[in-house]
Amino acid sequence: MPLPIVRTVAELRARVAAWKAGGERVGFVPTMGALHEGHLSLVRLARTRAQRVVASVFVNPTQFAPNEDFDAYPRDEARDAALLASAGCDLLFAPTLAEMYPEGFATTVTVAGVSEPLDGQARPGHFTGVATVVTKLLNQVQADVAVFGEKDYQQLQVIRRLVRDLDMPVEIVGGPTARADDGLALSSRNAYLAAEERPVAARLNQVMREAIAALNAGEAVAAVEARAAEALAAAGFGRIDYVEVRDAGDLSRLGPGPVDRPARLLAAAVLGRTRLIDNMAV
Ligand code: PAF
Repeated sequence: MPLPIVRTVAELRARVAAWKAGGERVGFVPTMGALHEGHLSLVRLARTRAQRVVASVFVNPTQFAPNEDFDAYPRDEARDAALLASAGCDLLFAPTLAEMYPEGFATTVTVAGVSEPLDGQARPGHFTGVATVVTKLLNQVQADVAVFGEKDYQQLQVIRRLVRDLDMPVEIVGGPTARADDGLALSSRNAYLAAEERPVAARLNQVMREAIAALNAGEAVAAVEARAAEALAAAGFGRIDYVEVRDAGDLSRLGPGPVDRPARLLAAAVLGRTRLIDNMAV
């Protein structure tokens, strides 16, 4: 059976309200489409936590800078809908731009602290766009539980912070990063990689694994970060936005010595026209 698609908040709310009136828990997986196995694993995870699962597909313009890939971002709603149905999704919310940002729209949500370093520096304004659209989506769907990929680890921490700070009645769950056999984190943007870039892209995760092993063996953070950045440059990455060990919760900087608390290694680097990000627990 084809997946039902709704385009307005009113239709969405009517469907969700009917499920809730019947005592069913509702899960939510927000996406920008161009779905891959990583997204589908989030839908399946939501399914284990709720009787009904809503997914959204909305390529949110406010989280892209003018020089970024908003226009090029892959869009194929029919394919996305078929994949979502196969993973057990019950409803697709695919709003129009006018439904999300009607004439006169004037509110933004900014999360201080956790959204400031890393991608906050490399992509100014990105997390305000994310926090604003995610606040809207969570208010629109009113799910009991929402699932976000750990692949976008900083985004996940930003969303956890905003849900706590704004007392939003939804449980936030992080889903593990899905990877190709060579370790490359699955991402819609991997579609931009040229065939000859694909093995180089896998080096990102391999270099990170080497760094994690060194950190777990007690090597100093500063030395491991510097070596990882050199290895990425040597592998053929152009701009390396960051490869840094950060506090696993608030993403604050660690001291230069050995890791002394729960930490996360996060990296972002550009290969040709593709910006790749990845992160791993230390
Ligand atoms: O992770 C994404 O795909 C997007 O940032 C999200 C959470 C759907 C908001 O547009």
